[in-house]
Amino acid sequence: MKKIVVANNKGGVGKTTIACQVAHALAAKGHTVVAVDLDSQRNLTSSMESSAVIGSALDMVTDGAPVVAELAAGEIGVVAGHKDLQAQNSDDVMVNVSHALRGSKGADFCVIDTPPSFGEVVYGALLGGDYLIIPIELKKYSLDGIEMALEAFIAAQEVNKGLELLGFLPSRFDAVKKVERDALAAVADEFEQVVIRHQIRNRTAYLVAQEEGVPLSEIKTKSGKEAQEEFGAFFDWFYDRVNRGA
Ligand SMILES: Nc1ncnc2c1ncn2[C@@H]1O[C@H](COP(=O)(O)OP(=O)(O)OP(=O)(O)O)[C@@H](O)[C@H]1O
Ligand SMILES: [Mg+2]
Repeated sequence: MKKIVVANNKGGVGKTTIACQVAHALAAKGHTVVAVDLDSQRNLTSSMESSAVIGSALDMVTDGAPVVAELAAGEIGVVAGHKDLQAQNSDDVMVNVSHALRGSKGADFCVIDTPPSFGEVVYGALLGGDYLIIPIELKKYSLDGIEMALEAFIAAQEVNKGLELLGFLPSRFDAVKKVERDALAAVADEFEQVVIRHQIRNRTAYLVAQEEGVPLSEIKTKSGKEAQEEFGAFFDWFYDRVNRGA
């Protein structure tokens, strides 16, 4: 089971949206997918309401309990978030989460959504995961967090040698704004190797898909079509990367 962690300590950058749509896109290819919601806000759980709940993230955090999924092809099983996740900060949390993820089985892919802070839970996910996507916003003020996210990845990779950074994914990108285009150029210049060359733009369709809890493919507006096209381009790249050498 390939485990993809979506993380950034900055809030509201599109982590949950990207995690949900990646899960949907993998399922649309016929894969079995476990979607894990490690955030006490439970946004991924809410957006995946039409999928079956097959476990509890709180059990992962408190007991290190792995999930054994039994899913049909193209099905998503949700490991639900819980409001008490935020309060879990015992010494065992990191080891529990990593153990739970490593021991989970029964699906092709596991997509893990995380809260907006690099606490024990997120480090646990980084220690138990295989791939990391860091969504970034290009608003000037939100660039500060990028180095922190990179440092968290480097620290985790010292322990989990198999963890691969897929890259920074420009998210909620407003290409009309010069300040954002400049910020993207600056980030791409400084972090040339790690900025993903696809962008997720700021489009209503992403918001609507999240609110309605559906894949982007069900949003039939112009914005929906545009979002599908650009997300599809990112997803094709992603899919190729995670299947490399498979
Ligand atoms: N590409 C996008 N275009 C437009 N709206 C978006 C886009 N991505 C996310 N949103 C909206 O922005 C808000 C924040 O997105 P999301 O919840 O995915 O971010 P997050 O990083 O998971 O936030 P948090 O840190 O609170 O968990 C949501 O209302 C979501 O619908
Ligand atoms: Mg979120």
